[in-house]
Amino acid sequence: MDNNFDVVVIGAGPGGYVAAIRSAQLGLKTACVESRKTLGGTCLNVGCIPSKSLLHASELYHKAKKEFNNLGIETTDLKVNLSKMMGNKNKSVITLTKGVEFLFKKNKIFHLKGKGSVLDKNTVLVIDDSKKKNTYKAKNIIIATGSIPTSLPGVKIDEKTIVSSTGALSFSKAPKELVVIGGGYIGLELSSVWKRLGSNVTVIEYLDHIIPGMDKDISSEFLKILTKQGISFKLNSKVTGINVTKDRAEVNFVNNKSSISEKLESDKVLVAVGRKPNIGDDIEKVGIKLNQQHKIQVNHKFETSITNIYAIGDAIDKGPMLAHKAEDEGIAVAEIIAGQAGHVNYDVIPAVIYTNPEVAMVGKTEEELKKNNISYKIGKFPFLANSRAKVNNETEGFVKVIADKKSDKVLGVSIIGALAGTMIAELALAMEFGASSEDIARTCHAHPTHSEGVKEAALAVDKRPIHF
Ligand code: NAI
Repeated sequence: MDNNFDVVVIGAGPGGYVAAIRSAQLGLKTACVESRKTLGGTCLNVGCIPSKSLLHASELYHKAKKEFNNLGIETTDLKVNLSKMMGNKNKSVITLTKGVEFLFKKNKIFHLKGKGSVLDKNTVLVIDDSKKKNTYKAKNIIIATGSIPTSLPGVKIDEKTIVSSTGALSFSKAPKELVVIGGGYIGLELSSVWKRLGSNVTVIEYLDHIIPGMDKDISSEFLKILTKQGISFKLNSKVTGINVTKDRAEVNFVNNKSSISEKLESDKVLVAVGRKPNIGDDIEKVGIKLNQQHKIQVNHKFETSITNIYAIGDAIDKGPMLAHKAEDEGIAVAEIIAGQAGHVNYDVIPAVIYTNPEVAMVGKTEEELKKNNISYKIGKFPFLANSRAKVNNETEGFVKVIADKKSDKVLGVSIIGALAGTMIAELALAMEFGASSEDIARTCHAHPTHSEGVKEAALAVDKRPIHF
């Protein structure tokens, strides 16, 4: 192999590996550097994929325990074999990371094993496990190094008692007491998993509501549903410190309003207060500009402040930290490097929380529109009035469609309910085509499906739902 490439991608997560595949498809000689043993980044190894495996398995267990009897399915001796459940999760991870390896071979992408860093605008250094150094020349470099968990001041994540999502995906037994700091995506998905598997879960959230950034209507409905499922919440609460003694933790926190201090004892503490870009010293040394939040600054072509060095995914100052956003950026940056017109529409990036019920949104929330003085109209439809949801005993939640008051163009949709994560794709597509709520309302939706709830919410924008 000669060490000259058209493109060297640093990082093989959903942003990096997709950028590498698209670059190779476009005829560019491509290499991708990865320091993990397996490809796929956080998403495939310790994020989206293993968490979805545990969410799926624990949801089936919960349903078998709580709902099967009502359906006339009787079970005896139902129990969890956690090591088997973890084994199944690990198998999914291996299958999918091997899948990326196969795609690299198929597309003739050079997989450079080791830790990559930028030496200068056309050189990438790779140090492998045995500390051997190799340099590679690249006409273009794409930085796709992703993000790492953040912690709180004075709190050290040891992945034993105080864990990040990585530790919480591999507990060898369900903790009796689990304290989760942060009521965002990771906190709520993993609270659901461990609550279903038998833990007493308390979520401590700094704000007065959960899932900041999502529509407030959805957030308060979600809080009610999760509370009904037995998860406890301490809102408006700031963690002031955690004392670890042997295998137990004491979490101290103070109420932001009343200033009253409280403490909770637990076997495990999950810190899920956000993630920060995974950026090495090399980035600043070569002069790549970062913004105040320490994210790489890029323009609309994903160019950093250094010519020929591009950046995408969680490490940049654009869009949410989501795998599918990074994938779309990976495709766009490769096309831009190849002289095409790659583009990502940041106004239409769906977001999904894979709990039960699921929560999903695309576009603007009502709060954002209010803040920007944009006039809007709302159509809401509850799943309680959807026939399929009723048949399946999945009546929690609703669809909320927000359209421009004058033009009727759909500005945002939020859904809480079964299959919300799948249904949101229809709305993303509609918004990409500039649909009005009338367009959705006049699109025939199959009966009986949950998606009729979307059509009914669109009808409700002009106050004419049929079934409510
Ligand atoms: P997040 O930003 O979703 O939530 C963090 C939460 O912690 C917020 O509610 C915040 O108010 C709270 N918080 C911050 N400081 C706090 C403090 N000192 N005390 C108490 N609460 C505090 O971050 P999270 O859940 O860690 O997820 C990280 C990233 O991973 C997110 O950007 C998310 O987009 C992504 N992710 C996406 C998933 C999905 O698409 N389903 C699943 C998991 C993660």
